[in-house]
Amino acid sequence: MEDTRIAILAGSASARLGSAVCTLLDLSPVACDARRFPDGELYVELAQSVRGTDLFLIQATSPPVDQHLIELLMLADACRRAGADRLTGIIPYFGYARQDRRAGRCSLGARVAADVIASAGFDRLVLIDAHTPAIEGFFAVPIEHLTAAPLLAHAVATSLPAPSVVVAPDLGAVKLAREYARLLHMPMAVVHKTRLDGEAVEAKAVMGDVAGRSPLVIDDMLSTGSTIEAAVATLRAAGAIDPVTVAVTHALLVGPATDLLPKLGLARIVASDSVERDGAANLPITTESLAPLVAATIRHLHRDESLSETRYPA
Ligand code: R5P
Repeated sequence: MEDTRIAILAGSASARLGSAVCTLLDLSPVACDARRFPDGELYVELAQSVRGTDLFLIQATSPPVDQHLIELLMLADACRRAGADRLTGIIPYFGYARQDRRAGRCSLGARVAADVIASAGFDRLVLIDAHTPAIEGFFAVPIEHLTAAPLLAHAVATSLPAPSVVVAPDLGAVKLAREYARLLHMPMAVVHKTRLDGEAVEAKAVMGDVAGRSPLVIDDMLSTGSTIEAAVATLRAAGAIDPVTVAVTHALLVGPATDLLPKLGLARIVASDSVERDGAANLPITTESLAPLVAATIRHLHRDESLSETRYPA
């Protein structure tokens, strides 16, 4: 593919990230016209040729999830029909990833989303901290699963007092917490959480030594904030001390998050720009850009080089 031209197209959910990636690669993003018909239907049209290119389409399926998902599918279809030679989808945040198992007569949302994405004509997809490593098995196209853990660990490293402890706020975050603990040379602990519904969770116990330590609570995503709220309360009850730092790859900040999180006395929240947002000025949040990771990944994939340094922890 090295002789083929790289082209980068960013959807509306990842416009800023796409533009930062283009700057790093010294490219201009593919121009595209995207608008809605009066009935709400989306219309997309590439405004320049992509024929014969090694095309990277960047689009998170962040809220509004379904709108961004259909935009991803239609952009992919447009790229394919316009003659892109190879099409790689870079999905910085994969919505529906949490619907990865069935309880009762529900739909397996992650599988449904994976199927429609795979059918849109991608040769390969790149995901970043997509909730669980098992998500790869949902897709019928090859997946490169990257992690933002080194980026975020580096961002918090110098501000963590000694002694600190990396905390997984639930069992699902243990693998990611292990990676942070390895990168930061810190011990780790796990909060035992039970989800009651979409907005409410309950946490009762901590496994690991947190007394007298400052927690770095890590997670793949921060959605309504209830997981972090429950974890922080449980950690404080177990003797953890301030400052409390939070590092998450995907800061969705939906529902009550922006009211709830300021009440928790967090010193700092560090998140990636996988989900683009405006506002949240009332939160002590700093954003670390995935652009260097994504740009390096594009360079490696274009040259068919190994991505072993950037993969999700095994
Ligand atoms: C759940 O398993 C995820 O890893 C997150 O812990 C969760 O989705 C965060 O959601 P919320 O902020 O709404 O508790």
